[in-house]
Amino acid sequence: MRDDHSGFSAVRTAIFPVAGLGTRFLPATKTTPKELLPVLDTPLIQYAIDEARDAGIERLVFVSHPSKSAIERHVMDDAALRATLCAKGKDGIAARLEADALQPGDDVVFVMQDAPLGLGHAVLCARNHVLPGPVAVLLPDDLILGPQGCLSEMIAAYGQIGAGHLVAAEEVARAATGSYGILDVSRRAGAVSSARGIVEKPAPETAPSTTAVVGRYILDPVIFSDLSWQQAGTGGEIQLTDAIARGIARVGLAGFTFSGRRFDCGSKAGMLQAVLHVAGLDPECRDVLHGFGRNRLVTAA
Ligand code: G1P
Repeated sequence: MRDDHSGFSAVRTAIFPVAGLGTRFLPATKTTPKELLPVLDTPLIQYAIDEARDAGIERLVFVSHPSKSAIERHVMDDAALRATLCAKGKDGIAARLEADALQPGDDVVFVMQDAPLGLGHAVLCARNHVLPGPVAVLLPDDLILGPQGCLSEMIAAYGQIGAGHLVAAEEVARAATGSYGILDVSRRAGAVSSARGIVEKPAPETAPSTTAVVGRYILDPVIFSDLSWQQAGTGGEIQLTDAIARGIARVGLAGFTFSGRRFDCGSKAGMLQAVLHVAGLDPECRDVLHGFGRNRLVTAA
């Protein structure tokens, strides 16, 4: 294992909690896992995998559910499908599928979270499957697009920050604090917000700030022992936020303001914005958008 100059270990493992029921997207998610919903032609999970691989992650741990075996079928290579495509002269798409897919020799683990006990419980399910050192957690619902991957940026910053827990952070409207983990910020310096606390989904009146956690985390390994003691919190679920809070005194916590644009693809509005954004970057689809007179929606970022 590599240690960088500041003494922080390399981030070698990415955990993808993908066991959730996707109730906000029913009926689309009745049989299709929400992580396989497409942004144009690419499922959400693919963006998260690409982001982790671009960040140099060695091991990918998917915390899934027995009813969501389609996720495994998507992320792993399908040589028979590629052979069929090549036989039909569709070598281009076959090559793309091969590049996107994880291969049998890759370091990939699927572990099942049988009961919907919360995000903290999902991360705890990965405990016996991670490599030594801090771990990354990526929530595929939060699609973050930009010139540099959010996790790459966070890993580059991690060793310099001096906090064992680093979370992706974004300012939200005060009215929206009840949808996020919210940081109690003690100091802001550039992209880094040092935090003395974190609270899960506080009401706007009691929220300690409007700096929200979005779905990218780098967590010191103490998270696993802290999660093992964690009682159910908000919503009756074992919250990752609460276990992060327990570790602050020992390892520190900071928020990181990433450069990309984040889309909440767990909501219809966020998914629509993501599709319009990606369509606006695609020559063929951009013409369709112009046809609808909606190109003004996709000009940002
Ligand atoms: C989860 C976390 C929350 C975080 C959010 C980011 O909530 O519990 O702290 O801010 O992801 O998307 P969920 O959206 O799963 O309810």
